[in-house]
Amino acid sequence: MNKNQAGILGIGSYIPEKIVTNKDLEKIMNTSDEWIVERTGIHERRVAADDQATSDLATEAARRALEDAGIGPDELDLIIVATVTPDMSFPSTACLVQNNLKAVNAAAFDLTAVCSGFVYGLAVGSQFIQTGLYKKVLVIGAEALSRIMDWTDRNTGMIFGDGAGAVVLGVTSPGCGILGIHLGSDGSGGDLLKVSAGGSRLPASLDTVAKRQHFIYMNGKEVFKFAVKIMGDAANKALENAKLTAADIDCFVPHQANIRIVQSAAKRLGFPMEKVVVNVDKYGNTSAASIPIALDEAVKSGRIKNGNTILLVGFGGGLTWASSVIKWCKG
Ligand code: COA
Repeated sequence: MNKNQAGILGIGSYIPEKIVTNKDLEKIMNTSDEWIVERTGIHERRVAADDQATSDLATEAARRALEDAGIGPDELDLIIVATVTPDMSFPSTACLVQNNLKAVNAAAFDLTAVCSGFVYGLAVGSQFIQTGLYKKVLVIGAEALSRIMDWTDRNTGMIFGDGAGAVVLGVTSPGCGILGIHLGSDGSGGDLLKVSAGGSRLPASLDTVAKRQHFIYMNGKEVFKFAVKIMGDAANKALENAKLTAADIDCFVPHQANIRIVQSAAKRLGFPMEKVVVNVDKYGNTSAASIPIALDEAVKSGRIKNGNTILLVGFGGGLTWASSVIKWCKG
C-alpha cells in the first residue's frame, strides 16, 4: 500500500450566470426546443460574460476548491488546467490562474485531452502526490466553448456550454482516494471532432475565418457510436484497475455529453438512473469541466456521502477516454 495515497481534499465549481435556453437558440438557428431535448436532453446552457475568459472561470472554481480544502494558495505545488479553450496559445491558462490565485509556490501547465481532460488531469496530478514529490495539486477542468462554437450551425451549436470545476489533490487515508485509473486514446478518430484552424497546420488567415474553420466541427453520428461503446469499456477498465466491480459503485458521474449516451452507458453497466449524476439538462456539454461540475454538485447536494465509492468516466475528441474509481473520504 502506498503511504502517499492520493485523494480529493477539496472541490469547487463555477458556472457563469448567463443562461441560453433552447428557445433562445430557435431564434438564431434552424432548430427547435423539442428536437434538442429529445436528441440530447439539454434544455439550456451557460455562457461566459463578454469580459470572462476561461482563466476567470477556472480561477473562481479554484478559489472555491481551495476554500473547501481549507488550504491557502501558497500551499499549492502544482496547477494543472485541462482545457481546449485556453485564453490564448500561451502563456498557459494554468499560469494565468497561478497569477490570479497568487499561488507563488506552484508550477503550472495546461493539459489537452478535450472532454476527457479533467480525468487525465486527475491521473497526472495524483502521480505527483503518490511519488511524494508534491503535497498539494490543483486540477481544474475549465472551458469557454461558447467562444469556439458556431452559433449558426445546428449540428454543433446546441450542445456546448461554459463552466469550470476544480479539485485539490493531496494525501488521504489508506483505502481512500483514487483507487483506479484508466486512460486511453485513438488518434485515428481525430477528424471526428476538431477545430481545424488556428494552429501550425492551418494558421489563422482570412481564408480560414471565411471557411469557419476556427469553430468546432463534429461528426455527431460517429462520435455518438464511439461514446456509447467507450463509456462502458472505460468504466470496466477503471473498475478492473481498482479490483472492484460495478456492484461496488454507489454513484456514477459520467461526462455530460448527451442524456442518451449517459443512459446507454448506465444500462450497459447495470446502474439504475438513481445512481447516475445528470446535469446535462442545465449546462449542456462543458467538455473538461463537465465531470468536476457534476461531481461538485453531487457532493454539495449530499448525493455523494463520505465512504461512497464513485466512478468517473469521460470521453471526447482526440479521440480520448479516461475513467477513475474514487473512494470519497473527504471531510
Ligand atoms: N435541430 C433540428 N434538427 C437537427 C438539428 C438541430 N439542432 N441537428 C441536426 N438536425 C437534423 C439533421 O439535419 C437531420 O435531418 P435530415 O434527416 O433531414 O438530414 C436530422 O435532424 C437527424 O440528424 P442526425 O445527425 O442523424 O441526428 P442524431 O440523432 O445523430 O443527433 C446529435 C445529432 C449531434 C445530437 C447526436 O449525433 C449526438 O449527440 N452525437 C454525439 C455528440 C457528442 O456527444 N459530442 C461531444 C463528445 S465529447
